[in-house]
Amino acid sequence: MPYVIPGRFDGKVAFLTGAGSGIGRASSLRLAAEGAEVFIHDMNAESLAETVSMITAAGGTAVSRVGDVTERAECFAAIAEAIEVFGRLDVLVNVAGIAGGYHFTEMTEEQYRRMAAVNMDAPFFFCQAAVPHLLASDGNIVNIASNAGLMGQAYTTAYCMTKGAVVQLTRSLAMEYAKTALRVNAIAPGGIVTNLTHNFQMPSDIDFELMAPYLGYRGQGEADDIAELIALVAAPDSTNIHGAIFSSDRGVTAG
Ligand SMILES: NC(=O)c1ccc[n+]([C@@H]2O[C@H](COP(=O)([O-])OP(=O)(O)OC[C@H]3O[C@@H](n4cnc5c(N)ncnc54)[C@H](O)[C@@H]3O)[C@@H](O)[C@H]2O)c1
Repeated sequence: MPYVIPGRFDGKVAFLTGAGSGIGRASSLRLAAEGAEVFIHDMNAESLAETVSMITAAGGTAVSRVGDVTERAECFAAIAEAIEVFGRLDVLVNVAGIAGGYHFTEMTEEQYRRMAAVNMDAPFFFCQAAVPHLLASDGNIVNIASNAGLMGQAYTTAYCMTKGAVVQLTRSLAMEYAKTALRVNAIAPGGIVTNLTHNFQMPSDIDFELMAPYLGYRGQGEADDIAELIALVAAPDSTNIHGAIFSSDRGVTAG
């Protein structure tokens, strides 16, 4: 884990979704390594427990809650439990997400609604639940968008729509709370080696030429690349960073 800044988050409490895998696990480990007490959330109990073990083995503090972010009540209950446990909230990181490729006309309603619920509705409700506590602590929100939220991509219309919504959620909250100390930012990763990319499904008969513009030339990054940026953006002294959408995508959205 390069560039860890010990003590940067001392006295701070961070809540992270999607913490059982990939970017969520890497950023939970990093924030804990930098001194934050972390409340971590995922629907996969086993992998979430593994993340807790990794954090505690490294000397950090983590409390976990298993739940499905598609349930609005769960989003509010999870934030309430974090406050009950740690008494404050300084950072909310919305990471949980799902992806999948489909011919536009073949994505089912169920697949569409699930993607919208995980990728778009959940960050909205977590922000609603967390904002009062973050206002009290002069805290901040980091939403995980995607390069897919910044460009049109063949075969992933719904994914692109939900990530575009995360970008606009971020900008709109940045404006609504402009007169407070609350900071709201998003990170837009390109391809990152995680379970999500490993298990990514596409129809077998797609036109690969149409995908070339969003595959880029430099391969994929690591979850830690994004964790490092999350820590920088969420850090208490990053007061100049507000309303920003940070790409970390090896140039995919540059041209
Ligand atoms: N990996 C990439 O290439 C990439 C690129 C851009 C953006 N992203 C975004 O980064 C975020 C994390 O992705 P990742 O690559 O680490 O994926 P991942 O699959 O490794 O981890 C996602 C985690 O979210 C959890 N999750 C999914 N649905 C849930 C639900 N309904 N309730 C609770 N938890 C749920 C999963 O159990 C999993 O642990 C996602 O929002 C994804 O869209 C990833």
